[in-house]
Amino acid sequence: MLDATLSRIDNEIDQSLNRLFDFLKIKSISTDSKFKQDCDKAADWLVEDLKSFGANAEKHNTDGHPIVTGNLGPDTGPHVLFYGHYDVQPVDPIELWDTDPFEPTLENTPIGPVIRGRGSSDDKGQLMTFVEACRAWVSENGSLPFKVSFFFEGEEESGSPSLIPFMEKHKKEISSDIVLICDTGLFDNKVPAIVTRLRGILKEEIEITGPDKDLHSGLYGGVAANPAKALVNVLSALHDKNGAITIPNFYDGVEELPQNIKNQWRSLKFNHNYFLSEVGLSTLAGESDRSALEMLWSRPTCEINGMKSGYIDEGFKTVLPSQASAKISFRLVSNQDPFKISNSFREMVKSLIPPDCKVSFGNRDASKASQMNTSSPEFEKARQAISQEWDIEAAFIGSGGSIPIAGYFQEITGVDPMLIGFSKDDDQIHSPNEKYDLESFRKGIRSWARVINSFSELQNV
Ligand code: BES
Ligand code: ZN
Repeated sequence: MLDATLSRIDNEIDQSLNRLFDFLKIKSISTDSKFKQDCDKAADWLVEDLKSFGANAEKHNTDGHPIVTGNLGPDTGPHVLFYGHYDVQPVDPIELWDTDPFEPTLENTPIGPVIRGRGSSDDKGQLMTFVEACRAWVSENGSLPFKVSFFFEGEEESGSPSLIPFMEKHKKEISSDIVLICDTGLFDNKVPAIVTRLRGILKEEIEITGPDKDLHSGLYGGVAANPAKALVNVLSALHDKNGAITIPNFYDGVEELPQNIKNQWRSLKFNHNYFLSEVGLSTLAGESDRSALEMLWSRPTCEINGMKSGYIDEGFKTVLPSQASAKISFRLVSNQDPFKISNSFREMVKSLIPPDCKVSFGNRDASKASQMNTSSPEFEKARQAISQEWDIEAAFIGSGGSIPIAGYFQEITGVDPMLIGFSKDDDQIHSPNEKYDLESFRKGIRSWARVINSFSELQNV
């Protein structure tokens, strides 16, 4: 049963790729309202795709982008829910792309064939690994061995605002024995992984205003308040010289890593020099007394994501800008409370604003960190299944990224999601030239077929 399904996956990989390419052509950028219709189109595409191999599927409109649900398989055995997101990040700076982000290509590169295009890795390509595994399973065996529910959203990249109300309202339908999420990466290019902890996130936007118009810097400089200066002052006060964050009570709720996890992570032999060299860097930044993996997976951060102020076009304009703004995000760990941190951050910013400048804050958006308990038998089953596919033992790892829904599943349905994904560090997710290796796609589909097979051996959990 499994062997035939795996062969079918290999034999039909071109058809699977064609379907993925159709999906990748849809410009489902959730953060930009210009692409609202495209998000709708991506949801419709998924409904049709699920129906094409026998699942029932439905699009649910929300205040934001639609949610797609579907079901397939008998009511026996474990009930498995699979989550993925069909929205993608904006493409800018577009001039840095070598190909059209929404005209996917299969490209031969020195590291092997890659699927190039926005969303190829985050998350359309990953989402389709599971869908294609189900399709192959059904084609080969007539039906799935247990009930699978599909749950796709289009707002993951913009903080999933419609998700909690939807999950609360449809609690019964989305309650399952096992939750699978394919939105994370391999440990390294050849080692599969189950992610057991994700960081939370808090996003803040600040705008500082001063004079009621841009001023001549010769006639007013030195005398009038400068919002750009005020902004850099605020931003540079957020860390001390050792890289620690200075916001009062910021570290409340941050737990030190237990020694056994420290040892396990050390045994992974993460090479931070190589990791940095892949992006043109060589020196660890951040907290001076922490290892790279510790910082990425178990420590909170404060990063400036963007700044805007003054004259930056060609030539020079000697002005004092009338406003300056920045987008800042925090990655959170353990029990850090995003709203307490937000309030403390805002108080600190206000205290640093000079006379004649005013500060306002944009919408904040936050989710807590989550940690998964991996002691239940399905985690071991899945770990064995993916280890077989990649021919090396899968690692339990942390992740620096955030997937807010992981925590919502824990809170709303009480299930700890299993995070398995096949993206690689060099996939350039959220950046120009995003790609997904054909190997990730093909072995990803095969991995899920093996996981499905292994879960069919579980008694009702
Ligand atoms: N898929 C990523 C998160 C990720 C990538 C986790 C690789 C682990 C390995 C996800 O789509 C993402 O980018 N999330 C955002 C969440 C935010 C916008 C709320 C993030 O982490 O910035
Ligand atoms: Zn993603």
